[in-house]
Amino acid sequence: RDPQVIEAKLLGWYDRHARVLPWRAPPGHGPTDPYRVWLSEVMLQQTTVAAVKAYFERFTSLWPTVHDLARAEDAQVMAEWAGLGYYARARNLIACARAVAAMGAFPDTREGLSALPGIGPYTSAAIAAIAFDRAETVVDGNVERVVARLFAIETALPAAKPELVALASRLTPARRPGDFAQAMMDLGATICTPRSPACGICPLIEDCAARAQGIAPELPRKAPK
Ligand code: ADE
Repeated sequence: RDPQVIEAKLLGWYDRHARVLPWRAPPGHGPTDPYRVWLSEVMLQQTTVAAVKAYFERFTSLWPTVHDLARAEDAQVMAEWAGLGYYARARNLIACARAVAAMGAFPDTREGLSALPGIGPYTSAAIAAIAFDRAETVVDGNVERVVARLFAIETALPAAKPELVALASRLTPARRPGDFAQAMMDLGATICTPRSPACGICPLIEDCAARAQGIAPELPRKAPK
């Protein structure tokens, strides 16, 4: 499993098949507005891509920049958030917008981003990679599944998590890390799905150890709760 081979195949696939999402620039078109990346990633925590689209369009038409959102009334933001759930996320959203507006702009490193309200390890890595082209590794449930299958990791989650993060970070390229992260997420969401992965159309079929062993649908294993 050669990282350069995997990167080339995955980015080639992404260039042809990336999902068209309102917060994305077209693949290969470089960094995206950090405000749009941040807003989408916060909304996507525990909410599906399909549900988030309309909220994202509404927020960015009401508040096109982080400065506009920072000046909004709390009650209006909370009202527009209604339906997305997890209202602590909306409170943090307002606090974060105001902190960024006070600083002048989003910090452009994972460390700087991590210091903001509501931005945990996943979100800081996603914004740094997607908006600022930093070679940070973004690991969500989709990425865990893709990596567990590529390397046929038999260890169950959550114990396997550190190993999966280490393997994912070895795959992360210096060039186009944001597209790479989003390609892994799209692959997990559309092809390398939990129950019936569509291995026949997977760009990484030849590189997948789980597929070679016939165990792709079984991975990642999960420890009984
Ligand atoms: N899920 C969370 N963030 C995402 C992104 N940037 N692209 C696709 N799926 C996602």
